[in-house]
Amino acid sequence: MSVDDLPLAVLASRIRLEEKQLLAELDRRRVPFTLLDTRTTVFGSGHDFRFRGALTREIGHTRNLYATRLLEHAGVTVVNSSAILDTCGDKLFTTLKLEAAGLPVIRWMATLTPEGALPVLADFGYPAVVKPVVGSWGRLASRLDGHDAAEAVLEHRDALPGPVNKITYVQEYIDKPGREIKAYVMGGETVGAIYKSSDEWRTNTKRGGIPSVCTPDDDLLKLLTATAEAIGDGVLGIDVLEDRSGAYYVNEVNHTPEFHGALDVLEVDLVGRYVDHVLSRVG
Ligand SMILES: Nc1ncnc2c1ncn2[C@@H]1O[C@H](COP(=O)(O)OP(=O)(O)O)[C@@H](O)[C@H]1O
Ligand SMILES: [Mg+2]
Repeated sequence: MSVDDLPLAVLASRIRLEEKQLLAELDRRRVPFTLLDTRTTVFGSGHDFRFRGALTREIGHTRNLYATRLLEHAGVTVVNSSAILDTCGDKLFTTLKLEAAGLPVIRWMATLTPEGALPVLADFGYPAVVKPVVGSWGRLASRLDGHDAAEAVLEHRDALPGPVNKITYVQEYIDKPGREIKAYVMGGETVGAIYKSSDEWRTNTKRGGIPSVCTPDDDLLKLLTATAEAIGDGVLGIDVLEDRSGAYYVNEVNHTPEFHGALDVLEVDLVGRYVDHVLSRVG
């Protein structure tokens, strides 16, 4: 049996629209696959994993990272790799990687306790944004318009469970033109991009942002390519914010990107390109 005859593992727990579409595309191409439910899969001595490779769509970051590391340990190539998950799963680590590569990130500050941030925020400048380093869908991302809001939010952050919530990652608030950009970059190539527009300060689709097609200009394309180069070879959803002068900043990089909004507006076959990329990397 050649490795091509082995099934592809698809790591997931909840099957949302994205996963349904990817599984349907694999079916359509008659690519054999096994759905590995990350909640019940057992790893360890005596547990062999005979797969052609794996596509990971687990929604929970920690479980995603561990499942991927465990499969890689068993010799399975996973898209995205644990190295990408490790960086992109943490917004601060992503920023460090991008800044080290000389890319335009949003001016930031970090303290390792919430109370450490309060006395220096006035100097940093309001409005500012504080957000969990691990998280998504805009959850718990807070805009701080001044000292009173900062004091309240930081006190609440301090009461959140888990040591990671003490890490206090602050960004300058970018006065966006009512929209943000999400670009889908696969293997370094920009496959498509959308704007998400909203009157809210959090313009992401999960918060009601309306998707529309974005045709990247040269500056944006260069930034996307360089971002992917810094992060690694994989399927990436790159969040870019523009300020009122038109300057671009990379906000974060999603390692297991959602694309339901993009499917509504993009002409490109995002799902097909996603599967093409995975198959090209797993051999
Ligand atoms: N520094 C910022 N300035 C302006 N808007 C921001 C800033 N950071 C986040 N936002 C808004 O909040 C949304 C959620 O923040 P984000 O960092 O993308 O986290 P996630 O998508 O993982 O929840 C973004 O899509 C954007 O609309
Ligand atoms: Mg985001």
